[in-house]
Amino acid sequence: MSQDKATLLIVDDAPENIEVLGSLLSRDYDVKVAIDGAGALRLAFAEPPDLILLDVMMPHMDGYEVCRYLKANPVTRRIPVIFVTALDQQENEALGFAVGGADYITKPIQPVIVEARVRTHLALYDQRRDLETQVRIRTEELETTRLEIINCLGLAAEFKDNDTGMHVQRVAGTSHLLALKLGWNNEAADQLRHAATMHDIGKIGIPDRVLLKPGKLDAEEWAIMQRHCEIGARILGSHTAPLMAVARTVALSHHERWDGAGYPAGLRGDHIPLAGRIVAVADAFDALCSVRPYKRPWPLQDTLAHMRAQAGLQFDPQVMVVFDVILPEVLAVQSRCPDDVALPAPATVMLSN
Ligand code: C2E
Ligand code: SIN
Ligand code: FE
Repeated sequence: MSQDKATLLIVDDAPENIEVLGSLLSRDYDVKVAIDGAGALRLAFAEPPDLILLDVMMPHMDGYEVCRYLKANPVTRRIPVIFVTALDQQENEALGFAVGGADYITKPIQPVIVEARVRTHLALYDQRRDLETQVRIRTEELETTRLEIINCLGLAAEFKDNDTGMHVQRVAGTSHLLALKLGWNNEAADQLRHAATMHDIGKIGIPDRVLLKPGKLDAEEWAIMQRHCEIGARILGSHTAPLMAVARTVALSHHERWDGAGYPAGLRGDHIPLAGRIVAVADAFDALCSVRPYKRPWPLQDTLAHMRAQAGLQFDPQVMVVFDVILPEVLAVQSRCPDDVALPAPATVMLSN
């Protein structure tokens, strides 16, 4: 409304009142009129005006009731309503404010007062809308920044042993697909996608001699490596934001095994959070297909055969069923996020298992 004339809706069952207000205000504003409550609501919902001048005493539906409807509808809730009425008792004024009116003018109207009130409430409404737009823009910026920081954290986590960051992107993408196929709603699946980028954040706390060892870990090194789950959970902290809570859960539980032989807690079956069971499948699939300082990539068929054999042992069998169903989409994620910088082949090639 800042560029054009503001639109006012005048509601009154008496034509002479409409005439008086209309001729007064149509010089500065676009004026629409309604002669009863139902007409007023129809107009207001169809093309929300910038301000409403509302008579109280009308047949069928009085002004208070009209105002209640306006305030109950998200489309019209914020439009300032000024009651215009001959009733000047205090309790009526109070009721006008109680149902959400912005102001109150008594008849017979005084033109200067009407003009001043209308101007004031339009200006306030304008300011509020500007502010809301700014808040929305800032909120979107914050959200973007937040997700960028999360992706940076995920990238930092694997920078030492996989500096393209594509492993976390693929694990995130595959986890997202699995969650959707398991019936999670878009919001929850999206949250898991971002949370999954941080599943190995705890590797920051693992010494290079262990993390980058070009061969099989000994018992002591393996014990150190297993700590990346709890280190990750500690880094992610116990924040209240749902995304951070899911991220922490994933960091902590992505190496639990369905048969209870995993770490760090040795949880079994559906005692393992589903988010962790999903990321476990996505992570292992990608790790098996990829080069690591300690292993070379497995051929796809070997990876699939191994993972299917692990359904009900390492992996949640239901997640594995879904994984098989969405395999084409998973492979599409793999080819969308290739490791453009391949690591040099490990000095000592150890094929685990
Ligand atoms: P990662 O390399 O990202 O592997 C993630 C998970 O993928 C592994 O969790 C495992 O479930 C699966 N996976 C990866 N490679 C193989 C493999 O060759 N055979 C089999 N059967 N599964 C595989 P896991 O085993 O709990 O290992 C967690 C992390 O510990 C690994 O993450 C890696 O960073 C490290 N790690 C595991 N084994 C070794 C090793 O022999 N040498 C070194 N240097 N690091 C290892
Ligand atoms: C990673 O999970 O980002 C890489 C793991 C590894 O190479 O040990
Ligand atoms: Fe891990």
